[in-house]
Amino acid sequence: MRLTIRQIQTMKRKGERIAMLTAYDYTMARLVEAAGVSFILVGDSLGMVMLGHDSTLPVTLDAIIHHAQAVVRGTTKALVVADLPFMTYNISPELALQNAARLMQEAGVQAVKLEGGRHVVPMVQRMTECGIPVMGHLGLTPQAVHQLSGFRVQGRTVESAQRLLDDARALEDAGAFSVVLELVPTELARCISQTLAIPTIGIGAGAGCDGQVQVIHDMLGLYEDFVPKHTKQFATLGSTIRNAVSQYVQEVQSGQFPTPDHSFGMDETLLQSLYGPAPQEP
Ligand code: KIV
Repeated sequence: MRLTIRQIQTMKRKGERIAMLTAYDYTMARLVEAAGVSFILVGDSLGMVMLGHDSTLPVTLDAIIHHAQAVVRGTTKALVVADLPFMTYNISPELALQNAARLMQEAGVQAVKLEGGRHVVPMVQRMTECGIPVMGHLGLTPQAVHQLSGFRVQGRTVESAQRLLDDARALEDAGAFSVVLELVPTELARCISQTLAIPTIGIGAGAGCDGQVQVIHDMLGLYEDFVPKHTKQFATLGSTIRNAVSQYVQEVQSGQFPTPDHSFGMDETLLQSLYGPAPQEP
């Protein structure tokens, strides 16, 4: 049985902190779930860390579906949330509903996430009234990176802090079951978290959130193009992989690999039928 929305909301009420991580493929999803993460995001960050784009904007719905299918196949207990990519929900509530339905039906995820505040309320309402759980995303909303002039902390003025608080309340009222707060000052994120009944999941938003989410490539030290300030590297798998691969190259070149342990023998008589009998010693 997968983790349910109700259980996540109960965790907030009981003061239990929620650990969420991204995953984008079967193998990583299995590892993440086995390590105790039961709230997984198939984020459109995959456009950057898996596909090498410089933003999340080029990610398509088909790409998210492809990756989310693999994550769902790799998990049995986790609640899997998939991002609605850029412009797949902003145009109209009906389009949002159709695209969210594809994520639920074709990818098999249990919830969807979208970015934005009061302007996405009609979309959140339409999806939730049709039984699709929706997670919000406020603060630095990466799909608006150009409008925000980069990946910058949000909510640092009274007006923008008030806007974020109002947006968070509006998402909750519209039926969102949880909200990601990205790159928001710690004090503001704490205030939003205390105001809302639904859980807040922070990334670069300090310890006052009800849970945390990280991009798995960042926290494992796999994505080396840029290390965000909010990331703690719990491993440096980039260098582990480089070392292992360079040892492989060396061993192939020197003939050390493969050994008989990694190879398969053949019956001597079969071999003779190919080569003929071995020549006799004079
Ligand atoms: O796409 C993503 O990985 C996200 C997280 C940064 C929350 O939205």
